[in-house]
Amino acid sequence: MKSTLSMSAPPIPDLRPWFVTLEDLPPPPLDWKAYFGNAQPVELEIGSGRGLFLVTAGTANPQTNFLGIEYDFKEGRRAARRLQKRAFPNVRILGADARIALPKYIPDASLSALHVYFPDPWWKRRHHKRRIWNAELVAQAARILQPGGLLHAWTDVEEYFAVILELVAAHPAFLERPPSNEKQPEHDMDYRTSFERKKRKAGLPIFRALWERQSQPQ
Ligand SMILES: C[S@@+](CC[C@H](N)C(=O)[O-])C[C@H]1O[C@@H](n2cnc3c(N)ncnc32)[C@H](O)[C@@H]1O
Repeated sequence: MKSTLSMSAPPIPDLRPWFVTLEDLPPPPLDWKAYFGNAQPVELEIGSGRGLFLVTAGTANPQTNFLGIEYDFKEGRRAARRLQKRAFPNVRILGADARIALPKYIPDASLSALHVYFPDPWWKRRHHKRRIWNAELVAQAARILQPGGLLHAWTDVEEYFAVILELVAAHPAFLERPPSNEKQPEHDMDYRTSFERKKRKAGLPIFRALWERQSQPQ
């Protein structure tokens, strides 16, 4: 007969500092300089999934720090293993619900960019209230972005995209800018995120928007 010990689940590997939860953080708000150990600009991604954006952007921009917030710990840990393997100094994943982490932990005017790629569409009308994009998210984005900071939103869901455009247009802090053009991938992982890769390979159109946080509301 197997012992209880041999039947128990393998221990979850410690991926700190690449994957941390709110319990690992000091009392809020986050002090970016202490957290990353330097004063580089910080960009945040909400719903970082498998971490393709964080790995690509973190590699291309070593002078910028990136934090992904992901509430699916399995996905967050999978992404963190890639960061750990290459000992990324400038990329971290926080296992947390962004709706809790943003208001509580992210200081005012402390980010140079906020990225939200392919947010869960919650297709059923009665589930729309679960969507990450709402007036509260836009208010948080206005609070945590520095003047001149960029807000990126991409989705393949046209109806949701129209909702996002309307929400951001209703906030005086944001000025719409031209988003990046669709780029022909140079290799199989040359997409902004895993979802962009999946949706483009399925032939779906991608809707992209970009806004700049104004120093004074217009
Ligand atoms: C459709 S996936 C897209 C993942 C990635 N952005 C991409 O484009 O490949 C949406 C991701 O957002 C995460 N997510 C949804 N709501 C969240 C929240 N409130 N806080 C943190 N992560 C969230 C989900 O767990 C999921 O990994």
